[in-house]
Amino acid sequence: MANIAVVYHSGGGNTAVLAEAIGNGAASVPGAKVSLQRITSQQINAKLRWEDEGIAKELQQADGIIFGCPTLMGMVSTPFKAFMEAAFMPWAKQAWKDKFAGGFTNSASINGDKTNTQIQLLVFAAQMGMLWVPMGDHPGNNWSGGSESDMNRLGAFLGPMSQPRASVAEEAAHSADLQTGFRYGQRFASIVSHWTREGTHVTDRMFDAATAAAIKAQAQKAAK
Ligand SMILES: Cc1cc2nc3c(=O)[nH]c(=O)nc-3n(C[C@H](O)[C@H](O)[C@H](O)COP(=O)(O)O)c2cc1C
Repeated sequence: MANIAVVYHSGGGNTAVLAEAIGNGAASVPGAKVSLQRITSQQINAKLRWEDEGIAKELQQADGIIFGCPTLMGMVSTPFKAFMEAAFMPWAKQAWKDKFAGGFTNSASINGDKTNTQIQLLVFAAQMGMLWVPMGDHPGNNWSGGSESDMNRLGAFLGPMSQPRASVAEEAAHSADLQTGFRYGQRFASIVSHWTREGTHVTDRMFDAATAAAIKAQAQKAAK
């Protein structure tokens, strides 16, 4: 069974709609178990550290994690950045190494510097030692016969994007973007399923002395 988690932040609900489409696509793959985990500002403590044991546990158990957040000021949203920074211990322990990763974003402008957000998610996944699954669909709406209803109409290669135009409720979810998200979720779960079924790869973890000391110090602190 492929265990997929979609972990995302959405302040106003637009990114949540894309997260759900991606989750539905992943869930359409036989044998895939999908959970949607929403990052909220309530999970961030007074020291600006994100913490939620339930979500952390779900992510630990996942074979693949798809990250998503809105693009704000051309980059990942603050709650999602807090979540990424809180991944220090899984980073130190290489706990997510060799899990699959993907990333999506949503913003009001057709461009809006969404790619920068996806690059941030990609770098984060690389730091975690994860395996990035790119969009996999050619860009749409980029030739004379193209249209707004084309798959991947926003032409992203790193992962799905959506563009709900601000303050127009009926346009909040562009159907082509949601279908693109669905297709991506399906592709992601299908790849993870294939890997979990066929794979015999064993994750090799090698710790440098400083990181090993940090893990030991954290364990001693937790034991007190
Ligand atoms: C502080 C702020 C910054 C924003 N920056 C961008 C931006 O850089 N590019 C863009 O296209 N839209 C930007 N937007 C619009 C949001 O991306 C858009 O409203 C998005 O749908 C919000 O997603 P959510 O409903 O999941 O929170 C910004 C909105 C806010 C409030």
